[in-house]
Amino acid sequence: VIDVRKLYAQTGHFTYDPGFTSTGSCESGLTYIDGDVGQLLHRGYSIEDLAEKSDFMEVCHLLLNGELPTPKEKEKFVHDVTYHTMLHEQLANFYRGFRRDAHPMAIMCGVVGGLSAFYHDSTDIHDEHQRMVASFRLIAKMPTIAAMAYKYSVGQPFNYPRNDLSYAENFLYMMFAVPAEEYVISPTVARAMDRIFILHADHEQNASTSTVRLAGSSGANPFACIAAGVASLWGPAHGGANEAVLNMLQQIGHKDNIPEFIERAKDKDDPFRLMGFGHRVYKNYDPRAKVMQKSCHEVLEELNLDDPLLELAMELEKLALSDPYFVEKKLFPNVDFYSGIVLKALGFPTSMFTVLFAVARTVGWVAQWKEMIEEPGQKIGRPRQLYTGPTARDYVPLEKRG
Ligand code: ACO
Repeated sequence: VIDVRKLYAQTGHFTYDPGFTSTGSCESGLTYIDGDVGQLLHRGYSIEDLAEKSDFMEVCHLLLNGELPTPKEKEKFVHDVTYHTMLHEQLANFYRGFRRDAHPMAIMCGVVGGLSAFYHDSTDIHDEHQRMVASFRLIAKMPTIAAMAYKYSVGQPFNYPRNDLSYAENFLYMMFAVPAEEYVISPTVARAMDRIFILHADHEQNASTSTVRLAGSSGANPFACIAAGVASLWGPAHGGANEAVLNMLQQIGHKDNIPEFIERAKDKDDPFRLMGFGHRVYKNYDPRAKVMQKSCHEVLEELNLDDPLLELAMELEKLALSDPYFVEKKLFPNVDFYSGIVLKALGFPTSMFTVLFAVARTVGWVAQWKEMIEEPGQKIGRPRQLYTGPTARDYVPLEKRG
């Protein structure tokens, strides 16, 4: 690893790295990825262990505080999060300003950014207590904001959060309980939901997390920073991929059509890519995709559902991974490849897929933002550029132009 800050101080030279393919932008103790072997660790614990043995609240505690909680710490942590699940009533008015057919991610960008207009007592980034309250608020309110975006789009009344339920159960309740008092939460569905949250909790310096850090490096308040992260996540090359995968599978329609789509993905004149394939860091199977694929089978089996899209996805994976193009470029399924099928089985409409990703990733964004703010000597993020415009020239008055 070369510390280019020293190089710049000594020579005035800087590195040119569009897409940051070889740039480390920070030090972080949160998440470790070894893309060559397909390993993902949070604070040293494997994602496989966390997904199987922990729950989302424990993973949130781990990311924010560095350790898995003791039973007592867990109880307090869950209490601190659930305390903040309600949304300021005036924020509910925001929703009425949006068109009903607005994409829920568009609503998320607006409402999450709007939080800073309501929670002034947790916007001082230099106050440790305020930083912690802001973190709890964001983790707690994200499911409420997301479920309200959905309820608004389908014209149903909002369901207020229920603090007697787990994080995942409460989210399912706010999304699907119609009428509220008759809603029964299936443990299978709640466990699958919780696992999806765990699998998306953090992933080191991806585009949205880097966006949160860059926004935060200027001293912007945490709500504004997380809104920036939501916006960055929306793109189909990042969190928008789970929605794009399902749309792609539906478009493929039948396994006989798979070769045609694989050929299109290989054609450099065609912008089409196999969605849910490839990753900047993983040059091996994304470990989250393995857990997600297993979860997919379990959920469909336990809910007694038979989704032909799962069979189609598995056939697509098989054919792509036996094609030299995908093998040579080390393009494997990523977390988004199977998550859409699970989310569909759980009853989520496609437009909510990226929203769910945002709900889950909030803890990662918040933990990364806190880590950065608490680092001594933290600097504003300010990359340089290679200028390609005209050199200095004389100004031409309007009457002499043309
Ligand atoms: N289908 C076909 N070809 C692909 C794909 C794909 N899904 N992904 C990459 N390639 C090819 C590229 O065309 C490029 O080929 P070339 O070297 O001949 O030009 C090569 O593989 C490398 O791809 P890059 O785009 O340079 O790799 P990068 O690291 O910049 O991009 C990305 C990674 C954005 C994830 C890319 O693989 C992609 O677009 N995948 C589809 C979208 C997707 O699934 N995104 C989710 C990412 S995971 C997440 O955010 C949770």
